[in-house]
Amino acid sequence: MRILVCGDVMGRSGRESIKSHVPRLRRELGLDFVVANGENAAGGFGITDKLCRELYAASVDVITTGNHVWDQRELIGTINGDPRILRPLNLPAGTPGVGARVFSLGDGRRVLVLNPMARLFMDAIDCPFAAVESELAAHPLGDVQAIVIDFHGEATSEKMAMGHFADGRASMVVGTHSHVPTADAQILPNGTAYQTDCGMCGDYDSVIGMQKAVAVQRFIKKMPGERLQAADGEATLCAVVVETDDATGLARRIEPLRMGGRLTQAVPRLMATAN
Ligand SMILES: [Fe+2]
Ligand SMILES: [Fe+2]
Repeated sequence: MRILVCGDVMGRSGRESIKSHVPRLRRELGLDFVVANGENAAGGFGITDKLCRELYAASVDVITTGNHVWDQRELIGTINGDPRILRPLNLPAGTPGVGARVFSLGDGRRVLVLNPMARLFMDAIDCPFAAVESELAAHPLGDVQAIVIDFHGEATSEKMAMGHFADGRASMVVGTHSHVPTADAQILPNGTAYQTDCGMCGDYDSVIGMQKAVAVQRFIKKMPGERLQAADGEATLCAVVVETDDATGLARRIEPLRMGGRLTQAVPRLMATAN
């Protein structure tokens, strides 16, 4: 199975990068399943029902989120009506939506997607490791053909720990939230594809996707200034492509992808061998 996971989609330019690249990548790479982190799709702050539909129309199958999930408050009322968007898994019991779900590909194969959120330098929430453990126990590889974990977190250490915690039990663990892609794509010793952070789908002439002038002043003056706004230059689509073995659910290859915008481009070698 070929799975694309796109990092945090940042504002309009991030959404444009999804629309202009993902439908074509889906064909050219023979992708079976596409996940995108949508927590910053609405000008950097949350996501709306309408923007979810925009991403689905661009061939995204499932939207994951993170700490910005409720920035657009309308989602609190609509999330239970949309089975294709996940909120962080380890939020308190009773929170609307779910953080894990099994999705059917339509050809009999099934994929479990988990969206745990980390705790270091972030809000104090329930343990992400315990939450992942119970989902993996409920839907182990074998019952499902692939397991995708989007671990939304700040600290590289906590994300690497999640990679090893799930190694051999998930198809892939990919981090989101930092908005900067890391250069550590690998298959862990027991067969789980891993990258500490996917990076964002956004304009990199910015401070993690926000217009740079205001963002820089905030650091210099240590006072609240003008409202941060999403940078609107051409985005780099930052993603990883993972190929899994349907028999075991483990990864055969992982390739980082960076397309468009300012970042050094990374085109998966898979593209040479796509169906
Ligand atoms: Fe984000
Ligand atoms: Fe985040």
